[in-house]
Amino acid sequence: MGVPPVTKPRATPDEAGSTGAAIVDRLTQLAAVSDEASGLTRLYLSPAHRKAADLVLEWMRDAGMSARIDAVGSVIGRYEADRPNARTLILGSHIDTVRNAGAYDGNLGVATAIEVVRRLHAEGRRAPFAIEVAAFGDEEGVRFPSTLGGSRALAGRFDPAILEERDAEGVSRREALIAFGCDPSRIAEEAHRPEDILGYVEAHIEQGPVLEAEDRPVGIVTAINGASRGEVKVTGESGHAGCVPMPLRRDALAAAATMVLAIESRAAAEPDLVATVGRLDIAHPAANTIPGNVTFTLDIRSPSDQARKAAVRDIADRIEEIARARGVAAQIHIGYEASACRSDADLSNALAAAVNRLGLAERRLPSGAGHDAMAFDGRIPFAMVFVRCRGGVSHNPTEYASPDDIDIGARALLDFIDHLAPASA
Ligand code: HGY
Ligand code: MN
Ligand code: MN
Repeated sequence: MGVPPVTKPRATPDEAGSTGAAIVDRLTQLAAVSDEASGLTRLYLSPAHRKAADLVLEWMRDAGMSARIDAVGSVIGRYEADRPNARTLILGSHIDTVRNAGAYDGNLGVATAIEVVRRLHAEGRRAPFAIEVAAFGDEEGVRFPSTLGGSRALAGRFDPAILEERDAEGVSRREALIAFGCDPSRIAEEAHRPEDILGYVEAHIEQGPVLEAEDRPVGIVTAINGASRGEVKVTGESGHAGCVPMPLRRDALAAAATMVLAIESRAAAEPDLVATVGRLDIAHPAANTIPGNVTFTLDIRSPSDQARKAAVRDIADRIEEIARARGVAAQIHIGYEASACRSDADLSNALAAAVNRLGLAERRLPSGAGHDAMAFDGRIPFAMVFVRCRGGVSHNPTEYASPDDIDIGARALLDFIDHLAPASA
């Protein structure tokens, strides 16, 4: 299940001598906290999320932080500055996962941030700014239609309307938060004032092949793709598989399949544009019934918002054309939009300088994947450091980053903190 066991005996950070081993040890523990009997699945506000959050709370406190679970279920640790009235640097990532996930996506950034603070605490050091570590729980957006609820709350951008969103079982986000022990009426209080924050910095696996192809352990993120997400409901007519002649059918699945291939070819026609149908549900599936109702998801991304919006329009037109030709109805709902965003130049340059001080050449690259950092764009400067992952594979149980690369990522973050001026950014 999850990340391969650590080959060395469980390392306490001091014995490890390697920050990477201490981080992998925590990732191994987190990888065992799943909502499923096999594989790693940890959805927002689920029992596994609660268990993981309690584990992270304990690690944050052991690392010298005060720690709490906030009004949207994020775990927030705080390590005070060496002086009063200092600004705050936020580090973090997410501990929720996709279904049958790898152990590094999101969790690596949280474990790395905790280890960096633990090192400062162990050495009796404090920075000229406070450090907050955020373990967000709603980055993947698997349980509810919209995502980034945790990071958007910290950024002061939480939209209360999403409290009414319901999951596949009909549970609203509001009900799930209350069951988790949170008070939705206090979410607005989680917002940080931009003037109090130096920035948000996130370590994350690359989830792509570039660093491995160039044999680099880490890279600095330049920008994050924008995304449009939603779903398409196709309504035809269910019928007896043995009795309805082919020309008389209104087969919702055959229509959906044609639409899926049309979506794929629209994206393939344009560089940097990607489109994915990740879930397709057939209502009342049976081998001897012509599907009458099918719902599938849409995920369309590009570094260019203009190109992405044009692709959404074209795909909607194509879906309607196919629906007409096949005598079915199609309803398209885009429930989530995130604009493409650029990392903060000063913070990114400071991260790159830290990488250089480790004796490594810097590599700047865009992110095809979305991240919690997007929630801060335009309000709080953000930067990201990528850690190489094997084969660029992610959202897959074989996802893997080596302890050595993880160690380099953590040491770069620690060096970045050691050189960050309190008033910068
Ligand atoms: O979908 C994404 O890009 C991220 O993994 N949530
Ligand atoms: Mn992620
Ligand atoms: Mn992910």
